[in-house]
Amino acid sequence: MSHTIVLLPGDGIGPEVTDATVRIVEAAGVSVRWISHLAGQLAVEAGLGTLPAETLDAIKTHRIALKGPITTPVGKGFTSVNVGLRKALDLYVSLRPVNSLAGVRTRHTDVDLVVFRENTEGLYAGREHEVVPGVVEALKIITEGASRRIAKYAFEYARWRGRRQVTIVHKADVMKLSDGLFLKACQDIARDYPYIRCEEMNIDRCAMELVLEPTRFDVLLMENLYGDILSDLCAGLVGGLGVVPGANIGDTSAVFEAVHGSAPDIAGQNKANPTALLLSAVMMLRHIGELNAARRIELAVERVLSAGDVRTGDLGGRSSTTEYTQAIIDALPDAKEVRV
Ligand code: NAI
Repeated sequence: MSHTIVLLPGDGIGPEVTDATVRIVEAAGVSVRWISHLAGQLAVEAGLGTLPAETLDAIKTHRIALKGPITTPVGKGFTSVNVGLRKALDLYVSLRPVNSLAGVRTRHTDVDLVVFRENTEGLYAGREHEVVPGVVEALKIITEGASRRIAKYAFEYARWRGRRQVTIVHKADVMKLSDGLFLKACQDIARDYPYIRCEEMNIDRCAMELVLEPTRFDVLLMENLYGDILSDLCAGLVGGLGVVPGANIGDTSAVFEAVHGSAPDIAGQNKANPTALLLSAVMMLRHIGELNAARRIELAVERVLSAGDVRTGDLGGRSSTTEYTQAIIDALPDAKEVRV
C-alpha cells in the first residue's frame, strides 16, 4: 500500500535530517508519495507567509506529516510557527518517548519514560501585551477541557502500553488556580484508571529527581511550558537532542517531529544527527500500520549505534550525516527476518 505523507523539511538542519530520514524510510521498502510544503522563514521568502494555508490544507487532507525543525526568531519577528501549527491543527498531544539507546553511553542506563505535554495552551497561548512601557503581562491559559483531554490520552496510552505509573507535573502550590486546575482535571481522569498508579509532583522536584534517578519514572504528564523544558532535560539523560523523537497528535491529524530545534550552529555542515527525526518517522510508520518497516529501522539504528564506529559528533563520533545514513541503510535487516 502506498501512503501520502506531507513533508515539511523546515530550516537549519531540517533539510539534512529530513532528507536522511526519507532515504532510510524508502530503503526500508515503504511506498510513500511525499508532498513537500514550506513553513517559517522559507515560506516568508517565497511570499506565502509563515504558515501557508496550502501547508495546513495538505496536512488536513492527508492527515500525516513528517516535519523538520523551524527556526523562531528570538524576542522579535514572527511568532512560533511550531506553536501556530499545533494550535491550527489542534494537535493537543505532544508525545515524546525517552529511551536509553544501546551503544550510547550516558550516566543512566535503562531510561524508559514518556513525556506527555499539553500542546495548545498554557503560556504558549501567546497572549502577551505591554501594559505600560517597562511592564509586560503574559497570560497562562489553562482550561479544564484541554487538561482533561491530554490526561485522558496519557492514561489511555498507559493502559494500552502496560505502563504502570503516571506522574502529574505542576507548580500548583504557587500557581494555585492555573496549575491547580490542571492538576485537579488530571486527578479526576486518573480515578477512571485505578490500576495505574498516579502521583503528583512539583516541577522543580521532578527536574531534580529526573537527573538523580530517571528510571523511577514511567509516564510524565504536564502542561505546555513544563513539557518543553523537561523534554530537553530528558533528552539529555539518554544522549542529547539528536536521539529523542516526538509526535504531535490531534483527533484528525498527526505531525511527527524530533524534540530538537534547527541547530543553526551546525546547519548545512553535514554534521546533524538524523536519529531523532528517524525515530519520529518510526513512530509515524507504526501510526500508519507499517510495523515491519518501523521495527527494521529501529533495529538498524540499534545495530549501528551498538557497533559504535559510525556515529555523528553529538554522540562523540566523527561521521557525517550522510555516512551515518548510509550505515543505517546497510544495517537494515531483511523484511523476512523481523516478526512484529
Ligand atoms: P536546538 O535544539 O536547535 O539546539 C540545541 C543544541 O543541540 C545545539 O548545540 C545543536 O547543535 C544541538 N542539536 C540539536 N539537534 C541536533 C541534532 N539532530 N544533531 C546534533 N546536534 C543537535 O535548540 P536551540 O538552539 O534552542 O533552537 C534553535 C532554533 O530552533 C530556535 O529558533 C528555536 O525556536 C527552534 N526550535 C524549533 C523546534 C521545532 O521546530 N519543533 C523545537 C525547538 C527549537
